[in-house]
Amino acid sequence: MTATEPAEKLLSPVLSASWDDHRPWTLETYRRHDGYQGLRTALEMDPDALIALVKDAGLRGRGGAGFPTGLKWQFIPQNDGKPHYLVVNADESEPGTCKDIPLLFANPHALIEGMVIASYAIRCNHAFIYLRGEVVPVLRRLHAAVAEAYRAGYLGSNILGSGFDLDITVHAGAGAYICGEETALLDSLEGRRGQPRLRPPFPAIAGLYACPTVVNNVESIASVPPILVRGKEWFTSLGTEKSPGFTLYSLSGHVTNPGQYEAPLGVTLRQLLDVSGGIRAGHRLKFWTPGGSSTPMFTDEHLDVPLDYEGVGAAGSMLGTKALQVFDETTCVVRAVTRWTEFYAHESCGKCTPCREGTYWLVQLLKRIEAGQGEPGDLEKLLDIADNINGKSFCALGDGAASPIVSSLQHFRAEYEQHLTERRCPFDPAASTVWADGQRAAAPSPATEREVHA
Ligand SMILES: Cc1cc2nc3c(=O)[nH]c(=O)nc-3n(C[C@H](O)[C@H](O)[C@H](O)COP(=O)(O)O)c2cc1C
Ligand code: SF4
Repeated sequence: MTATEPAEKLLSPVLSASWDDHRPWTLETYRRHDGYQGLRTALEMDPDALIALVKDAGLRGRGGAGFPTGLKWQFIPQNDGKPHYLVVNADESEPGTCKDIPLLFANPHALIEGMVIASYAIRCNHAFIYLRGEVVPVLRRLHAAVAEAYRAGYLGSNILGSGFDLDITVHAGAGAYICGEETALLDSLEGRRGQPRLRPPFPAIAGLYACPTVVNNVESIASVPPILVRGKEWFTSLGTEKSPGFTLYSLSGHVTNPGQYEAPLGVTLRQLLDVSGGIRAGHRLKFWTPGGSSTPMFTDEHLDVPLDYEGVGAAGSMLGTKALQVFDETTCVVRAVTRWTEFYAHESCGKCTPCREGTYWLVQLLKRIEAGQGEPGDLEKLLDIADNINGKSFCALGDGAASPIVSSLQHFRAEYEQHLTERRCPFDPAASTVWADGQRAAAPSPATEREVHA
């Protein structure tokens, strides 16, 4: 693939292929796109062969860490006499991350079919979807799709005459970023306050109700049925050797056409900007995140980094959730990092001291720097606190909070220093808004939005 390749060659819509159809969320539409064909194939296979297929296809978890999905399924001990559980992580709360919610809204049966296949593979008869509770329209849509799947015989007893039984429970969380961390999610699902658990034991051994549990991201599970329909060779022909397949890249911020772009792993931001209209007119790229705000930021020097797990890692960041938040030269990096850090301080669950106290102090320092009231030594203090959080916290939320501080100081230290020496913020916050440059006219009016959702 080259930077000049046309969009139709660059993009590979699979999960998003039906999104422009009339009522894409219905079973009828899903069936027109090979829906539930993968399940028929899966139910004729031995569960271990199914796990081997997903392993050989090289599918990696789309929730952030990129852990191999088939290998995770294989960790579930067999013949242990305990119930096994599949829990789908639909908490999606990382700033900039916005792929699972649109996927569930437009194509909920992709997840349900994937869940039946995954449950059959790991010998699970009760699976759960843990959804961020504020997204009520998606909650309703999921309930309706699950009911539709029961009526059609894809859920319940003796699915498609195979003798396999599965129930799905849709659970709405109360809305906490930490409940996306898989062990906090399990505590929350059990009715407790969502806080991370000490590991080991890992969920594969003692997860939900202390039983073997697979926790997978929405997109990971929804990506399984196409592998069964089109084959692992097709899947591995997309993407790169160690990061095969297709994925949803979410472009947001100062781009002409923000949205979901489904493409093979390993594309670059330069290519994605080519197909999304580029940076908003008259401006240039300043910094961006490859995988949400907790992944170290990149600059225009990184436009050609392959967006797969290895490529982004080698360039010093993480692919994370593939949430590409793009900022142009009107954005104050101190301001952006302060907003993110306020989010992490608010969402810190308070279980461990480095994160609970550290994020609080980071916010205090950043706010005074942003307001032009910073003091000499503040930048060293920021780095010192970040260092005391990073790798020393109980869970990865702490590491994520430290990451924008360290990377922004690495790339934009001069801008922080300017705030200290000039004793003010040198940027006009209005210039980075959507209504600057008369762009507001291009945004949909509330009436148009109402029509779209009707
Ligand atoms: C603070 C925090 C929040 C997270 N939020 C999510 C989330 O919303 N969705 C998700 O799938 N994974 C999230 N994760 C990662 C999960 O812990 C877990 O790795 C993932 O659900 C595994 O699924 P996968 O193997 O399919 O990627 C989060 C991790 C942390 C530390
Ligand atoms: S790192 Fe933060 S979110 Fe994670 S356990 Fe510690 S206080 Fe809670």
